[in-house]
Amino acid sequence: LTLDLGPESRASADVPPEPLSSEAPIGRHLLPINVGRSPSGHLTVAGVDLCSLAEEFGTPAFVYDEEHLRVRCREALAAFGPGVAYAAKAFHCKAMALLAFEEGLALDVATDGELAVALAAGIPGDRLVLHGSNKSVHELEAGLRAGVARIAVDSFDEIDRLESLVAGRGGVQDVLVRVTPGVEAHTHEYVMTGQVDSKFGFGLDSAAAEAAARLRKIEGVRLVGVHAHIGSQIFRTDSFAREVAALAPFVSDLGVGELCIGGGLGVAYLNGETAPTLVDWAAAVRSACRDARLPPEVRVTAEPGRAIVATAGVTLYRVGTIKDLPGIRRYVSVDGGMSDNPRPVLYGSGYEAFLPRCPDSARRLAARVVGKHCESGDVVVENARLPADLAVGDILATPVTGAYGHSMASNYNRVGRPPVVFVRGGRARVVVRRETVEDLLRLEL
Ligand code: LLP
Repeated sequence: LTLDLGPESRASADVPPEPLSSEAPIGRHLLPINVGRSPSGHLTVAGVDLCSLAEEFGTPAFVYDEEHLRVRCREALAAFGPGVAYAAKAFHCKAMALLAFEEGLALDVATDGELAVALAAGIPGDRLVLHGSNKSVHELEAGLRAGVARIAVDSFDEIDRLESLVAGRGGVQDVLVRVTPGVEAHTHEYVMTGQVDSKFGFGLDSAAAEAAARLRKIEGVRLVGVHAHIGSQIFRTDSFAREVAALAPFVSDLGVGELCIGGGLGVAYLNGETAPTLVDWAAAVRSACRDARLPPEVRVTAEPGRAIVATAGVTLYRVGTIKDLPGIRRYVSVDGGMSDNPRPVLYGSGYEAFLPRCPDSARRLAARVVGKHCESGDVVVENARLPADLAVGDILATPVTGAYGHSMASNYNRVGRPPVVFVRGGRARVVVRRETVEDLLRLEL
């Protein structure tokens, strides 16, 4: 079942809208929960002045409101129950893994690297779900060894690998079968995953049933549920309702006790945007489950990533050059760019920018904020609004950069990746330090 939703509903939530005309200060809903003002009017997060923080730790830097992360985890837990997992790919480090675990969330890890970080953080295997498209023998082995709670099985080749790995091993590994429900979510094509034409999972036509039947024949494997993920940065909860409607008959036919709907809830990146909350999302999913007559005993879970971490994070940069092209535009260059936030380049994602030294000022200046990399596509904020007195040396912040920024950061142009700083109760702690030239040279033989 592929739903043609028409051109209007295809509009991507992640494509930048018309150039921002608003001079209004940065919207409160785009900032971490615990923001305030210092005596000098600077923006504080959890009581820490962002300008001072930039002086102390340097720029660029990823700053997270720790309490905000915790609040979102608690919301997800309350909304979906103890099976809910945080999708580590959105932002992963030992501190974040531990935080999610402490707040009662399981963790979705998608590679041996993500698994290793979670284990290094001390997360027990039985709180981990191993995902991944094209899992290697090594990754499956690592998952089995760690005793992960679930492996989400993605392909027939993976079933072959799993079958030979569990043979004669003793014990039973719980698995989910990953299904592509044939639902096109309203989001950017590159992050749409639920449609039939997809590299992920098994189609509902017949492949999924065949995969389930094969898994059920393997001794040492127990099929406990169905998994699907229809995409990311999805604003409309009806996309998830369609997912549930497509999956419910399959789940009922299999008679399994679990349905994981994946992640994908969108967040607002721009002043004019609003997004459903985790609570709205869960309510829509539950009501869709009732409508689809999913047996009430089926445990319905989810794997939010972005919705947990995006708005908790702010990136701090320093302005290095300002170039005015009269009648064309003004370029504001900062000391990071596509290496710490590839999303504008990859998906054309729009962001806002502001100056933490005057978060309440009108933003009269139209500018393009760009990075320091050697390409024109290295855009941080395509259509930024900034205060008119912007000057070289200013600290410039981009909000809602807590998801898929640090985790997708690169060393392009041999730039070291920025540190991650958690702030809480007036204190800042570095949880991932800045990468140095020594780090970059460590791999060279
Ligand atoms: N579960 C599975 C199986 C996934 O593949 C993903 C994301 C999630 C959960 C979490 O989705 P979220 O709640 O964060 O939307 N790099 C892109 C996003 C790619 C998402 C990949 N899978 C971006 O920056 O927009």
